[in-house]
Amino acid sequence: MNRHLISAGDLAKDDALLILDTAEELARVSERSIKKLPTLRGRTVVNLFFEDSTRTRISFEAAAKRLSADVINFSAKGSSVSKGESLKDTALTLEAMGADAVVIRHGASGAPHRLATWVRGSVVNAGDGTHEHPTQALLDAFSMRRRLGGLDGRRITIVGDVLHSRVARSNVLLLATLGAEVTLVAPPTLLPVAVGTWPCEVSYDLDAVLPKSDAVMMLRVQKERMNAAYFPSEREYSRRYGLDRDRFAKMPDDAIVMHPGPMNRGMEIAAEVADSPRSTIVEQVANGVTIRMAVLYLLLGGETVA
Ligand code: CP
Repeated sequence: MNRHLISAGDLAKDDALLILDTAEELARVSERSIKKLPTLRGRTVVNLFFEDSTRTRISFEAAAKRLSADVINFSAKGSSVSKGESLKDTALTLEAMGADAVVIRHGASGAPHRLATWVRGSVVNAGDGTHEHPTQALLDAFSMRRRLGGLDGRRITIVGDVLHSRVARSNVLLLATLGAEVTLVAPPTLLPVAVGTWPCEVSYDLDAVLPKSDAVMMLRVQKERMNAAYFPSEREYSRRYGLDRDRFAKMPDDAIVMHPGPMNRGMEIAAEVADSPRSTIVEQVANGVTIRMAVLYLLLGGETVA
């Protein structure tokens, strides 16, 4: 394992499998009445969030606390960032407080990479701009492996706003490493220019791909990152690329539905599909704690899981 986790593409297959297998062991701990392990006692994890988050921020905090690490939560809102303090000075200030690991979410693609050149501790990318979100991809792979029994040769369809999605890029890279066959489905306007270099297929026809999918991951339409009209209307987007009841019926009976959250219910996914027993959306959140425990445990050299 590298000292940092910046990109899902940095994970060799053995690294990825080690994280998933460690998460399986840690999941058993999470089922106990006392969920805490002493493994990272005396270590400090700083959560450095410059962008809003519910799932990722809370699950990193829960993960670090379950491993008995000390946790410092930093949110750009209300900090000296509003007085113009730079990312570097913010990071060095937090490191001076003894950070062994810095978990960073930032609006700028590449911010975790820069941070890793300034601090001595491990850097974990919790989402950088439209670039990557590697722990989301790991928790998604963990959720798929549990539901589907394995990933090798599985057909995974990722649908929607790929252009603005760090989740899509990290998932494509990780799933390809783990032997899955990934197809991206999106309007041409919501695909990155370089998508042809990604290790996946591309389709514009959701109805044709659904019957051949073992898992369908719907992406949030990221309206807050859109500075132009990428589709004629929300209704039109939903009609062509939304997963409604009729489309859900076209999927194989044992195929699962995923979404990283937060969802635009009624736009990219119908409420009844999101809430169906074949949806893993709530499981994904629970698995996020377990995967982040595994990542912190492995990066910070925890002792044995007991
Ligand atoms: N999936 C995800 O990253 O959610 P949050 O933005 O709530 O962390």
